[in-house]
Amino acid sequence: MASKERYRNVDLKPELKSFRDEVIAGLSEKQKRISPKFFYDEEGSKLFNAITRLEEYYPTRTEASILSAHKEEICNLFSDHGALFEYGSGGSFKTEILLDSCKRIDTYVPIDISSFYLEQSSKKLLVKYPSLKIISIALDYSGDFTIPMLDLSGNIVAIFLGSSLGNFEPEVSKTFMWNAMENLDEKDRLLVGVDLVKDKDVLERAYNDKSGVTAAFNLNLLKRIRRELRSDINPEDFEHYAFYNDEMNRIEMHLRAKKDIHFSVDQVKITMKKGETIHTENSYKYSVDQFTELARQNHLEIKHMWCDAKNYFAIFVLKKI
Ligand code: AVJ
Repeated sequence: MASKERYRNVDLKPELKSFRDEVIAGLSEKQKRISPKFFYDEEGSKLFNAITRLEEYYPTRTEASILSAHKEEICNLFSDHGALFEYGSGGSFKTEILLDSCKRIDTYVPIDISSFYLEQSSKKLLVKYPSLKIISIALDYSGDFTIPMLDLSGNIVAIFLGSSLGNFEPEVSKTFMWNAMENLDEKDRLLVGVDLVKDKDVLERAYNDKSGVTAAFNLNLLKRIRRELRSDINPEDFEHYAFYNDEMNRIEMHLRAKKDIHFSVDQVKITMKKGETIHTENSYKYSVDQFTELARQNHLEIKHMWCDAKNYFAIFVLKKI
């Protein structure tokens, strides 16, 4: 990359058509569902930022404190002129903890489905870190993906924070880790932030905040359908519903119909009975043992594991065996 062009964007983003097709396919199933990856339009990204600051929502601040506590060790994972890859970079807020304390990072590669977020955070970071190079990649990494060859001079440390891995079904998280490791070799590392299994009340409060921000975040999905697709779905006909499913070790978020309703999405007619739900998110929680097993199945070695004092959250450092 010429020294003048410090910023480049690679757009591997899915088209609007896939939002339309996925919504219609999901609403046609017996248990209606829409993937949580569609939460993050401009409005949804702002609402998620607000969630991360809620008193009840412990993951973000807990993970940030673990990152701060281990920032020197993390910095030492980089070679000179290393590259920091970040899946689900969002607003790149926690990334700044690493960029501030680690001069070895030469290039930052944020990877996100939200191009709104990517552009905004890249602009901000280019100003704040005058010698940093940024290559942003707009990509849906929830399926099969390959990161294009980038011309890098050091090693790669890839991070996947915020327990975003928890959005994937356990099988899919294996595929993700596999795909993410495929770009990496011996001297590279993958860091994963994992929300740990804990007291049910703590978990349920984190997804049912008093001020209703999580409810607004969930309901924004319906507003997005109205904004972007031809649809008369009325968000007011739905309510936010979130609970911890003990058997599956996951928080489930749903949008529940308050009465019998009919609506259409791009001329496809949908009906729902009162109480019927659209399943919008699973957020899996792992025990240390379960995550260790997941890593083992992927032939990954756990180099480090760091937790907070309450054992609410963990960051795992992985390498290829
Ligand atoms: C960004 C997927 C990690 O599952 O906790 C926050 C999203 N959903 N509140 C999570 C979310 C409801 C969040 N992740």
